Amino acid sequence: MPCTVIAGAFWGDEGKGKIISYMALKDKLDVCIRTGSVNAAHTVWFEGRRYALHMVPAAFVYEECRLLIGAGANVHVGKFLEEVEATEVKNRIGVDQQASIIEEKHSIQDKTSEHLKGLGTTGWGIGPAIEERVRRTARVAKDIPELQPYLTEASEEVNEAIDAGKKVVVEGTQGLMLSLFYGTYPYVTSRDTSASAICSEAGVGPTRVDNVLVVFKAFMTRVGTGSLPGELTKEEAMRRGWFETAAGTGRDRRSAPFSFELAKKAAIIHGATQAAVTKLDALYPECKGAKKYDALHKEAKEFINKIEKQTGIPVVLIGTGPDALDIIDRRE
Ligand code: IMP
Ligand code: MG
Repeated sequence: MPCTVIAGAFWGDEGKGKIISYMALKDKLDVCIRTGSVNAAHTVWFEGRRYALHMVPAAFVYEECRLLIGAGANVHVGKFLEEVEATEVKNRIGVDQQASIIEEKHSIQDKTSEHLKGLGTTGWGIGPAIEERVRRTARVAKDIPELQPYLTEASEEVNEAIDAGKKVVVEGTQGLMLSLFYGTYPYVTSRDTSASAICSEAGVGPTRVDNVLVVFKAFMTRVGTGSLPGELTKEEAMRRGWFETAAGTGRDRRSAPFSFELAKKAAIIHGATQAAVTKLDALYPECKGAKKYDALHKEAKEFINKIEKQTGIPVVLIGTGPDALDIIDRRE
């Protein structure tokens, strides 16, 4: 597994944080590099505590893991410092000196733009921050006094780790359906969220990747505006136990049954070699907490088989509960 890219399939919130935290603990990851920005929250449940991480890589749960933020990421300095403190990772986290900075003014621009409000953005200011970067007026990490102790060349570190055969995870954020290029434009985020773009933000070339693991949730959710095929009413979502609120903004998440067609599209564009399915227990409550594939009921196994058949890739990790370790691991 030396270098694995983790990418979301749908509209984010597939459970990438949970999958990465499991891999960190189980595989003893050496390096985890995060991309994207503060608009994405990765939820990690570990030792009875819940973390909704906007900046710190989800692999922080394994205390030997080096944590990095890539040059293509956008750093929110306040949130970064707050999370570094909460997760106690000060001595093992680095920020690429050329990662750009997302500021309060970007959030104000995001929240006051009628156009952006109409797209249902998170309000963190990611679109305006990226606009500034494209204009080449954005500040970058090396310009920020509070970030001086953390500065590094993240791409150099990550490539050296790959050269040394270390275990590296490149942490993507959001999902393919929010991609600026491949998603439900214009109801998308301001960057490409495909595996190739995740690698680009981390400074990892396509020949250096061994695995692309696409993360599916057992049903689909979406926050903000834009189409959601098969969307259920809130009442129906609650009845099925699928109703969620956003980890980042607290907004209601809309929900719909799993789409095999979209799953296939995501697997193709990500170039996925493996898949994870999270929240299987939301569809099949009797599998809650299962750690062995054989413990799953017939219908649950049929669902997994169908995903494998339609996407052509193996489902290697299956989430059966919120904790990082509530997982069926079918690798090896
Ligand atoms: P922005 O990324 O804040 O500009 O928002 C654009 C769209 O992407 C909106 O529909 C947001 O709800 C959605 N979005 C952005 N980040 C996430 C995420 O991490 N999870 C779910 N939806 C997201
Ligand atoms: Mg999220």
